[in-house]
Amino acid sequence: MTKLAVLGASGRMGRAVVRLAKEAEMTLVLALGADAVGQDAGELAGVGRAGVPVTSDVGALAASGADVLIDFSSPAAFAAMVPVARAARVAIVSGTTGLGADELALLDGAAADVPALWEPNMSVGVYVLGQLAALAARALGDGFDVEIVEAHHHAKVDAPSGTALRLAERVKAAREGLELVHGREGKPGPRKPRELGMHALRGGDVIGDHTVHYLGEGERIELTHRASSRELFARGAVRAAAWVSGKPAGRYGLSDVLALGGAP
Ligand SMILES: NC(=O)c1ccc[n+]([C@@H]2O[C@H](COP(=O)([O-])OP(=O)(O)OC[C@H]3O[C@@H](n4cnc5c(N)ncnc54)[C@H](OP(=O)(O)O)[C@@H]3O)[C@@H](O)[C@H]2O)c1
Repeated sequence: MTKLAVLGASGRMGRAVVRLAKEAEMTLVLALGADAVGQDAGELAGVGRAGVPVTSDVGALAASGADVLIDFSSPAAFAAMVPVARAARVAIVSGTTGLGADELALLDGAAADVPALWEPNMSVGVYVLGQLAALAARALGDGFDVEIVEAHHHAKVDAPSGTALRLAERVKAAREGLELVHGREGKPGPRKPRELGMHALRGGDVIGDHTVHYLGEGERIELTHRASSRELFARGAVRAAAWVSGKPAGRYGLSDVLALGGAP
């Protein structure tokens, strides 16, 4: 049985991971969180007592015996956790978004000693959307303007979403020279051919929608993914944790888990 630690265990995603860990035959050994400290992680997740109280002490990771840590927290919590997991030789699977270059460099460093997998969207469907987005950008070429629109619930703190940024990377890799333009207001003037528009909608309980628009003369294409359940991301993370556990040190992505090859 894989021994699992969860960072952000009292959050929405962390609780979904705790729920799914049971059916994936993983043993929860540590629940890290900033709120609900002292409460049982299984009870918080609605799956009954797990005997694992939420703690804010990331230093407890070393003694927990965890094989792998799943993280859905915040960039600050991520940055505090990575060196600890690295020193404790615990594999890392993170879905936390809003990470900057410094945080990702920390993960790259840790990958010298432990398997480290970060994916801003753990959905298989979104992964395929990324592949399609690149294919369409390449095939349609300069005659089509590309704009990305994402929508999320009102509590989301980062914008645009990590998934939207990842989609933009895919499009940029397929069509060189594009530059991101975030939203538009005032009098930005006519759209420049090299713009790659990015727009973030926030409101309600939207779990996560992403559309890549290809706007041409007399025709347009829209590629859309809509998430209707948070569990799908947790399911992807648990699948990734089972895959990464016991793998050699290195940086991994969902593409490795799905054995699809190509960019992570
Ligand atoms: N990759 C994916 O597929 C995917 C899917 C969905 C969400 N996400 C990302 O996952 C992250 C969490 O999302 P969520 O919806 O679960 O958010 P959430 O409900 O706000 O949960 C985040 C949890 O992390 C905890 N946390 C924050 N700072 C901490 C610290 N220093 N130490 C320990 N715990 C800390 C928070 O506690 P407090 O409330 O006390 O701060 C909270 O319990 C976000 O970055 C989100 O964008 C990724």
